[in-house]
Amino acid sequence: MNRTDHIKEMINRYQSSFYFYDLDQFEAHIKSIKKTLHPDIRVWYATKANPLSEILRILNKNGFGADVASLGELQQARSAGYGPHDLIATGPAKSKNYLAAMMQAEVQAIVVESLNQLKDLNDVAGKLGRTQEVLLRVQLDWNDDLKSVLGGSTITPFGLGVEDWQTIQLSDYKNIQVMGLHCFQWGNMLDLAHLEKVWTHTTEACQKLSLAMGFPLQVLDLGGGLGLSYSDNREMNFSEVHELLLKLKKKYELDKIWLELGRFSIGKFGSYLTRIVDIKTVRGKNIIVTEGGINHMARPALVGEAFPCEAFMVEGTTHKRYAVHGPLCTALDSLGEFDLPESLKVGDWLEFKRTGAYGFSESMPHFLCHNLVGEAIVHHNELMVPRVPKTNLEWMV
Ligand SMILES: Cc1ncc(COP(=O)(O)O)c(C=O)c1O
Repeated sequence: MNRTDHIKEMINRYQSSFYFYDLDQFEAHIKSIKKTLHPDIRVWYATKANPLSEILRILNKNGFGADVASLGELQQARSAGYGPHDLIATGPAKSKNYLAAMMQAEVQAIVVESLNQLKDLNDVAGKLGRTQEVLLRVQLDWNDDLKSVLGGSTITPFGLGVEDWQTIQLSDYKNIQVMGLHCFQWGNMLDLAHLEKVWTHTTEACQKLSLAMGFPLQVLDLGGGLGLSYSDNREMNFSEVHELLLKLKKKYELDKIWLELGRFSIGKFGSYLTRIVDIKTVRGKNIIVTEGGINHMARPALVGEAFPCEAFMVEGTTHKRYAVHGPLCTALDSLGEFDLPESLKVGDWLEFKRTGAYGFSESMPHFLCHNLVGEAIVHHNELMVPRVPKTNLEWMV
């Protein structure tokens, strides 16, 4: 069976919206990243991009660690087989209980994002009679007003500024061992020259800070941000990114560099499929209404950027412009405007591509009591359905 047959099988079996991940292509991509890697460059998977267990297992088998940002992600990664040295923890919300759970899981490093986190972790580690290795998360001032989902130049809860970190004495935190710094403020970067500018500024600022605070920069974690375009076929070339890392490593005599990749790992290998429920023209505008919308895939509404959309198995040489809306009673439920075949009719299916990252995991499933979206995978050319779509009767209480 080929990809189209697998998708047709899903449609026939469930008649309800679903994500479809091609894990054979994904595994080949991950293996090619693994083959490129210098031993001093470590790649962690940003679990938030897509926490599906089979995805986590493939990454783990190929030497990726997991970056987790909640107790749920920690537990998911642990049950997918990640051992203590395969885990790091980022995220602005770390309660004492969560910090203790991470120490019990013996994660490789905790990325500390505030003075309270530092103090709480020092207490938790003291109670356990252990020392915890950490990275301090830094938020730089970029001196411009560019925005990004990760904050860009705006002030966010992610980490602390350079001056904020310098208000403390690390020697006051006896149970903490600082291994390095973490800095990540720009998402979905598609231009290598821009990436070089961002990473060069980050490296210089982090070296200065580690010197000022008096610890060696054993690890510099540059986060994620490797881009995958949603408006054309562009994507970062990992070999070029890797060359850039080696250039920075040499120039700044860096010891170890870490990356936390989300979108670039799995984004390209997922599709979201949903059925057309209505087609109409409203005051001159062609509108399609679909069975699932931002309840299954909220990102277009959150960041104002559509995933690319095609009609699934509908022929037609003439296209027209349609605005595609999901089923929710809010104009926010807009999935984008696309050129689609004029011959489209109610009951046909649309496929939103490149939705492997920040698709399922970033949805708002409960508004209006619709079906919950399913998830299907193809691995070793076999169709499996780890998450069967659920009707409202199966999830409402
Ligand atoms: C701390 C952290 N690391 C890594 C990532 C992954 O970023 P990307 O998907 O751009 O690779 C994110 C995304 O939000 C993040 O918050």
